[in-house]
Amino acid sequence: MRDKKRDYYYKKAKDEEYRSRASYKLKQLNKKFRIIKKGYNVVELGSAPGGWTQVAREIVGEEGKIVAVDISRMKSLRCENVTEIQGDFTREDTIEEIKRIVPIADVVISDASPDISGVWNIDHFKSIELCENVIGISDKLLRPGGNLLFKVFQGESIEDLRAEVNKRFRYVKSSKPKASRSRSAEIYIIARGFIVKAK
Ligand SMILES: C[S@@+](CC[C@H](N)C(=O)[O-])C[C@H]1O[C@@H](n2cnc3c(N)ncnc32)[C@H](O)[C@@H]1O
Repeated sequence: MRDKKRDYYYKKAKDEEYRSRASYKLKQLNKKFRIIKKGYNVVELGSAPGGWTQVAREIVGEEGKIVAVDISRMKSLRCENVTEIQGDFTREDTIEEIKRIVPIADVVISDASPDISGVWNIDHFKSIELCENVIGISDKLLRPGGNLLFKVFQGESIEDLRAEVNKRFRYVKSSKPKASRSRSAEIYIIARGFIVKAK
């Protein structure tokens, strides 16, 4: 069953020319929560190989801007309104580079994963650390009322992380899209309506 699901989305992505199976996670999440809309300026953190970037570009259309950031080199989408940055988003110089392209974002999305060790707790804490950086970037870049979507690996610190998100947004939910394997620890936090920077 597990492999069937994996194969199904793998094949679908190949047929539909998406760069990753993960594309369907963003499609399913956006259908349900409307995080990204036409014309939005999107900051994407942890974007390679670019499956989410393709989906985000389809949604925003010609008008919005997308800046897609990854430590690894990502093949360009060759779209005028998509800029790929190779960089570590936990570094201040990368954040400055993002800001030059999108000074104010309507939405920040992140599918960033740490290098997986296979040890549940280690991976959980590394993921939490990445998510704290993602929240910090959304504090700096999101417009009031803006949205945030990010992946986290489940574990004991998830409630503290959610509390940080709750302070900043009007509406917060977690969701595991159908395209995500059930045995995977990943879950997505969806936050809409950025209110204030937490003190
Ligand atoms: C699961 S992949 C993203 C897949 C992507 N959503 C897609 O659909 O193609 C996670 C990515 O996060 C990136 N990443 C992890 N930590 C990062 C960091 N500090 N800065 C930039 N990218 C990071 C990894 O290099 C990896 O490419």
